[in-house]
Formats: sequence, structure tokens, C-alpha cells
Amino acid sequence: MSVLSFPERGPWGNARWRGNCSGHVYAHLFDLLKPRTFCDPMVGSGTSTDVARERGIDAVGLDLHSGFNALRDRISLALPAHWNGAADLCLSHPPYWDMVIYSGEVWGQAHPDDLSRCASADEFLEKLALALLNQRDATREHGVYGLILGDLRRGGEYHALASDIQAYLPRRERRAILIKAQHGVQSAGRQYAPLRFGRVTHETIVLYERLKGDVYFALGCAVAQQQTVSAGTWKAVLRLCLQQLPRTFTVQQAYAAVLNAAPERVRESQHWQAKIRQTLGRLPEVRGLGEGRWELTAA
Ligand SMILES: C[S@@+](CC[C@H](N)C(=O)[O-])C[C@H]1O[C@@H](n2cnc3c(N)ncnc32)[C@H](O)[C@@H]1O
Repeated sequence: MSVLSFPERGPWGNARWRGNCSGHVYAHLFDLLKPRTFCDPMVGSGTSTDVARERGIDAVGLDLHSGFNALRDRISLALPAHWNGAADLCLSHPPYWDMVIYSGEVWGQAHPDDLSRCASADEFLEKLALALLNQRDATREHGVYGLILGDLRRGGEYHALASDIQAYLPRRERRAILIKAQHGVQSAGRQYAPLRFGRVTHETIVLYERLKGDVYFALGCAVAQQQTVSAGTWKAVLRLCLQQLPRTFTVQQAYAAVLNAAPERVRESQHWQAKIRQTLGRLPEVRGLGEGRWELTAA
């Protein structure tokens, strides 16, 4: 089942904690993953740990509001000694960027490392990636780490936070994406002008299985993923440009076509001409004729 809907939140945690999660979501995940040890490094009102303890799961809840900072403190060092530095499941439910501001509004004083106080979506994703690698580090081999996250719109732009964060994490470890219907969101009862693309009424749960390998393994995976995406985008741009060129063309014609079609993409790259020559060489439908001349072969 990859679509979850729990209209009730249940008795766990605190229903008045802004941005709290239904305890039934955790109950479902615990039934699915059967952890014996569980850590939530952004526990908020304690919904997840209440559910875990009720089920006899050894649980640790940490949060900035009680002095644990997932951006600076090692989660693995905050676990009980008999866990040997790793949990079966390490799942977070971070702020959805600035949808609810926590420090200074829900609790205590404004804190610079509060994820809800990031100045931009990019800053939020970069810091959240650090928190997730910290979670990964505190997860035993073949244990599960992940997060529950919602998307939001700012100034008309859709910030797909739950998708975008996945680019920072090893795709080889990704095991499941669950969609959770959002019930009882604060805005649900209010009257809104019609939204062109509708309201966001779901959250996403992304689960990863921690494989062997330290943080550099995770970094290597993320870099390789990004190189694949970048190479794929160059191929797509070039193929689109080649559609306008004669069957036999010169490299100068390819440069001009790309410059014309994708000036921003080109301005971003210092070595765009070399990139075009390299990408041409990687397209199976293009054959080099020598002296800067190329030919589009039959598809
Ligand atoms: C969406 S709430 C969690 C709600 C929780 N699932 C519940 O049901 O009550 C997000 C939590 O992340 C915490 N948080 C924000 N930045 C953090 C950081 N750097 N380290 C640890 N916790 C952080 C906030 O204090 C807040 O309690």
C-alpha cells in the first residue's frame, strides 16, 4: 500500500503541536518495518515515540527544542549505549521549510539552526541533507532511514521539497515512496480564491535502506546521480537543436544552434563548446566525419 490516509490522528503526541503528524502513520510504518529500536531526531510533541513505546519498541526522541541539534550533534552518539550507535529505524518529520516556524513561535527563542528558519528552499534542502546523512549514520546496516515531508508554494513557485531532497541522497538505497493524504491542515476550513493548480493536500514519506558504506559512499552516489542528470540534460538539449540542422552539419552549426536554443544553460558552463563536442560523441545517432563535420545517421 503506497497511499495512506488516516483522517484521525489518535491519542499520541499533542494534537495542538503545530504541524504534528497522525500517530497512525507511525503505527503503519512500525507494522511494515518491524523495528526493535527507533529514533526520531525531530520528535516535536512526541507522536512517533509515544506510538513506538506503546508497541514495545525501544525509542529515542530528540529535538532542537530540548537541546539536540540534528545539524551539529551526532545522532549516533545520542543513542543508548546498548544500541551500539545505530537504530533499526531513524525517521524524521522535519519542518516543511517555513510553513510553520518552530523556534521562537512554537517553542523558546529563535534558533539559527532551526530548519524552519532557512532563508531559502535551497538552504533548507542543503541543511536537511546534512540531517538525513546524520540519520543514515545512526542507522544500522540494512536498517531504514527516511523522512516525512510536505511540499509548498511560495510566490507561485511549487517547491517539491520531498522530491528535491532525494537528489542529495543515494538513490541505490531508496526503497519506497509513500503518499500520505493531509487531513486537518489549518487552511482546510478557510475560503481561498481558486488556485490555478489546486492546493497541496499530500505529504510524502521516503524510505531508504542503509547499505554498507560510510558517508563518502553516499556522497559518491549523489555525485554520480547528478552527473547522469547533467549528461542527460545536455543530450536532450543537443538532440532538440539537431532537429533544426541539416543531416550533415559542422560543429560551428551545432554551437550556434545550442547558443540560440539554450543561452542560459550555456552561460552557466565555462566549457560549453567542449561539452557539445563531448555530447555529440556520445549520441549513437550522430557520426563524426572528421574536420569538425558530423552526420545524423538514420534512427
Ligand atoms: C514537523 S515538527 C515534528 C512534529 C512531530 N512529528 C509531531 O507529531 O509532533 C518538526 C520539528 O523539527 C524540529 N527541528 C527543527 N530544526 C531542527 C534541528 N536542527 N534539529 C533538531 N530538530 C529540529 C522542530 O523543533 C520541530 O519540533
